[in-house]
Amino acid sequence: MTMLFAPAGMGPIELKNRFVRSATVECLATEDNRLTEEYYKAYERLAKGNIGLIIPGNYFINSIGRATDKVLVIDRDDVIDDLKKLTDIVHAHGAKIVGQINHGGRQCDPKLIGEEPIGPSGIRDTLTGVKPREMSEQEIEETIRAFGSAAGRVKEAGFDGVQINGAHGYLVNQFLSSRTNRRRDPWGGSLENRLRFVSRVYEEIRNAVGTDYPVLIKINAEDQIRGGVTLEEAIETSTRLEAFGFDAIEVSGGIKETGFTTTKGDIPEDLILSNMGFVKRLLFRFVEKKLQAAAEFKEGYFLPHAAAIKNRVAIPIISVGGFRRREMMEQALLQEQADFISLSRPFVRQPNLAKQMEKNPDADPISCINCNRCTYEITVNYKPLRCYYPPRKKEGGT
Ligand SMILES: Cc1cc2nc3c(=O)[nH]c(=O)nc-3n(C[C@H](O)[C@H](O)[C@H](O)COP(=O)(O)O)c2cc1C
Repeated sequence: MTMLFAPAGMGPIELKNRFVRSATVECLATEDNRLTEEYYKAYERLAKGNIGLIIPGNYFINSIGRATDKVLVIDRDDVIDDLKKLTDIVHAHGAKIVGQINHGGRQCDPKLIGEEPIGPSGIRDTLTGVKPREMSEQEIEETIRAFGSAAGRVKEAGFDGVQINGAHGYLVNQFLSSRTNRRRDPWGGSLENRLRFVSRVYEEIRNAVGTDYPVLIKINAEDQIRGGVTLEEAIETSTRLEAFGFDAIEVSGGIKETGFTTTKGDIPEDLILSNMGFVKRLLFRFVEKKLQAAAEFKEGYFLPHAAAIKNRVAIPIISVGGFRRREMMEQALLQEQADFISLSRPFVRQPNLAKQMEKNPDADPISCINCNRCTYEITVNYKPLRCYYPPRKKEGGT
């Protein structure tokens, strides 16, 4: 048996293999906050595909933190029944499922949330032009409580654990980064102070879910923007997260402001341009090269970062970003650079990938080419999650 298919523990739970389906927004919830049949079917396919741990796209803890359309906001109990149905479907096929919870902070679109987004400080996003309103002390406390209540609902719905999205430039990441957190009160300044928000969120979640329930976090090993989180800081942060009591850390990177740094690969230029007027098209030409350079794809692009963090903590490390060949995944496990291998885009195209790889140990079946058409269609146009390659004529492609 290969390492990829060897069972392993993550806190109090045992996973049947080392494959994790990294959280991936689906845009398959309805306007009235319900899950659709397509959503359930997508997760049934993934669960049948022999993935050890499945993490659905993030659920937002409240409406001001909603960074995407057609995704659940879990600030009320009436979402629990739909989520229960989901966890039952996944469990019926022997997979485990963890619910990711998030607050978008300054990365929320004012048009989508119908109000000014909030953040630790009023630092404008250079890509979207959005300037958030600085959170009051009271708003910080309310947000911490909302994370706790959301985690309680995740547990009640039968998930095997909860994951905080502390990565990709969302609110938790914004508090950690000295670029976006310029506060001069106890929530900003030193790393100690910038860690206060995530530490309080962790405590609130722990109070809601109890001691023997897995609480995971996804973090940025690097924001990949000047003044943002560096690897050195992320290593220090990880040792602190372990001390707080987190059960596992998923290591990612990049923030929205830098384009496709989380999902490295091609820039889907035709789709981007088709959304823009004349002036924006011209401006895009100026930043295009920079965006391309920042998004340059390298297999396992955050694996060295995961390895550096794993070197300093004992809790399981999940590596995500650009895993495309079996050999690299196996080596990452064998060389103890990571404990779990997490993929997003390849499972969009091939939900039964893990099953195919187990059945045929010589096969390297991943056919995702990192074209980022899925990334763009889902996160910008809020279209339903599927592989958008090759582009169909009516999608403005070739
Ligand atoms: C369409 C799409 C939606 C995503 N949604 C989320 C999300 O909800 N939460 C999250 O932490 N990451 C999200 N990600 C990032 C992925 O989890 C992952 O970190 C990234 O795609 C790199 O992995 P890959 O190279 O295997 O695709 C999303 C990625 C894509 C392509």
